[in-house]
Amino acid sequence: MEIVRIGVIGLGNMGQYHANYLSNGTVDGARLTAVSDAAPDRLAAYAGKAAAFTSSAELIRSGEVDAVLIATPHFSHTTIGIDALQHGLHTLVEKPISVHKADAERLLAAHTDRSLVLAAMFNQRLDERFMRVKQMVASGELGELQRVNWITTEWFRTQAYYDSSAWRATWKGEGGGLLINQCPHQLDSLQWLTGMPSRVRAFCGLGRRHNIEVEDEVTAYLEYVNGATGVLVATTGEYPGTNRLELVGDRGRIVLEGGRLQITRSPSSVSTFSRSTNEVFGKPEVTCEEVELECSPGKHEAVTQNFIDAIRLGTALVTPAEEGLHSLELANAMLYSSLTASTIELPLDGLAYEARLNELIANSTFEKRMSGTGTPVDISKSFRK
Ligand SMILES: NC(=O)c1ccc[n+]([C@@H]2O[C@H](COP(=O)([O-])OP(=O)(O)OC[C@H]3O[C@@H](n4cnc5c(N)ncnc54)[C@H](O)[C@@H]3O)[C@@H](O)[C@H]2O)c1
Repeated sequence: MEIVRIGVIGLGNMGQYHANYLSNGTVDGARLTAVSDAAPDRLAAYAGKAAAFTSSAELIRSGEVDAVLIATPHFSHTTIGIDALQHGLHTLVEKPISVHKADAERLLAAHTDRSLVLAAMFNQRLDERFMRVKQMVASGELGELQRVNWITTEWFRTQAYYDSSAWRATWKGEGGGLLINQCPHQLDSLQWLTGMPSRVRAFCGLGRRHNIEVEDEVTAYLEYVNGATGVLVATTGEYPGTNRLELVGDRGRIVLEGGRLQITRSPSSVSTFSRSTNEVFGKPEVTCEEVELECSPGKHEAVTQNFIDAIRLGTALVTPAEEGLHSLELANAMLYSSLTASTIELPLDGLAYEARLNELIANSTFEKRMSGTGTPVDISKSFRK
């Protein structure tokens, strides 16, 4: 395919950003040919540039596109994604790929035509810092994983943010809060770097820092099959917050904070040293290196470019949608653990979690307050370092 005709579905904060770079030729081999938003006023800006539809179903059936980028509220990622795949369209879905594991499995099950490319917008994977850490982990130079700690509290959000859209921060509209909206990036990177834990115990604060019904604070403890442990701390209610990832293996440690990556390497296994030395207070000799890396948390364009290259040239996907299941499972497990005050063994029972979420939706008495105009704002202000 010479040029991939792409349609953007959902023209809110994120969708407008996608539509804008796609219409100004930033992505090689792609042309924005259609847009869709349930709110007709969002379409006016694209008059003369792309075919416009108030319904995603019409766009999908219009014959104007070979591919879609879905940037709508979370529950509809599943339904619109399935519709697009069933109509033969390559599909790039915003994170999270669905609200819960059972829905994600429904979306992935619709990917029966494997000639279609199905990808997810995990833009953080293409951030130079995480690519570097991934390379180090994959090369095995850090040795077997012992511990991972991630403090990711740089996600400050105001009450005005939560009040800006009716769907946001409600069980019914969004299906969760911090874990399903902001943290999918870290949860995805976490599982990308360490694999999936086998058990999760988490404590979530529901509306602890904002007037919302869903979680805006999380502390989670993870256990891996090999006995490694992990802790993730996240909130949208702290400023300025911290973004510090510490990953320890048997032969090395990395600490990533901002753009500073500290690497400590032990030439041989620390556990072997511990077992074999006669020195009472002996310590392995280690080398330390510190590198400054570019903080490039945006990278949405690069994910879309990779999606287009996968369609046109068969390039391997950096962010296959299948892998989006893992971050979602982690998010669901953390919330489920907190709601049930129990440790959750993975794999999560997706149907049990879906049933619990449906109860939260059915029993919700929260009155959503709205403020502002609802007009999309400059999303790039939210791309954090
Ligand atoms: N990758 C990132 O860095 C990033 C950043 C922000 C948001 N997002 C994701 O983008 C998605 C949208 O978030 P947002 O902040 O832009 O929300 P938003 O509320 O600003 O925009 C959503 C838009 O979708 C439209 N819409 C709703 N249902 C629709 C339907 N069925 N068909 C067509 N249009 C529909 C709404 O009218 C609205 O314009 C979410 O999945 C969110 O998690 C990703």
